[in-house]
Amino acid sequence: MEKLDLLYEGKAKRIYRTNDEGIVWVEYKDSATAFNGEKKAQITGKGRLNNEITSLLFEKLKNEGIQNHFIKKISETEQLVQKVDIIPLEVVVRNIIAGSLSKRLGIEEGISLEETIVEFYYKNDDLGDPLVTEDHIKTLKLATPEQLQILRTIGLKVNDILLTHFSSCNLRLVDFKLEFGITEDGQIILADEISPDTCRLWDKDTNEKFDKDVFRRDIGNLTEAYTEILNRLGGKQHV
Ligand code: C5P
Repeated sequence: MEKLDLLYEGKAKRIYRTNDEGIVWVEYKDSATAFNGEKKAQITGKGRLNNEITSLLFEKLKNEGIQNHFIKKISETEQLVQKVDIIPLEVVVRNIIAGSLSKRLGIEEGISLEETIVEFYYKNDDLGDPLVTEDHIKTLKLATPEQLQILRTIGLKVNDILLTHFSSCNLRLVDFKLEFGITEDGQIILADEISPDTCRLWDKDTNEKFDKDVFRRDIGNLTEAYTEILNRLGGKQHV
């Protein structure tokens, strides 16, 4: 497989074309950003950790029957994935109140939800990725009601699988964000990444945070937190 020209550079990843039209080459960067890019830092090892963790989780989900874009990890910081058209929606699934939901509803962080919440955000940097309703999504033609139903159903299935998986690592899956893409033959599949950048993960006994809130809130060392997640998931040890 040959790595060709840069197709897209995001805050945490670079995507390259390859000599196979159906496959793109993803490189995880060491940069960390928060608050829509207002807070930035270079964190050595972050790209490697997120590549490793995402690869393990997408493999796990594939084995559990969740179709996704992951093909294989090809180096410490790189992986090959199926080329898809990303649906410009972030699908957030929540089990415990935290982050923006705590602010929006005025409820203390840490309270378990009786029913899992699924939210949709419009992926648009200029607007700051706003929360959108189904009617907004229809107006903007971001997805059809049928497609939204599919995103919700897959989101909840992923939640079931990951809740059990992280629980076996003594971790509480508080919330997470998913992105989806459409393949050439029109199928909706899970895409992007699942890592401590996109999930909130708390220790089950102490509620210690092992996710990007460590960086957002300056409450510890991000590399150490992400290494802890990788180790608990049974990945390779990194010094
Ligand atoms: O900030 P908020 O509480 O809405 O985030 C919910 C979940 O979605 C968190 O796990 C967060 O890391 C993730 N998220 C993300 N990318 C965004 C917004 C949120 O991965 N742009």
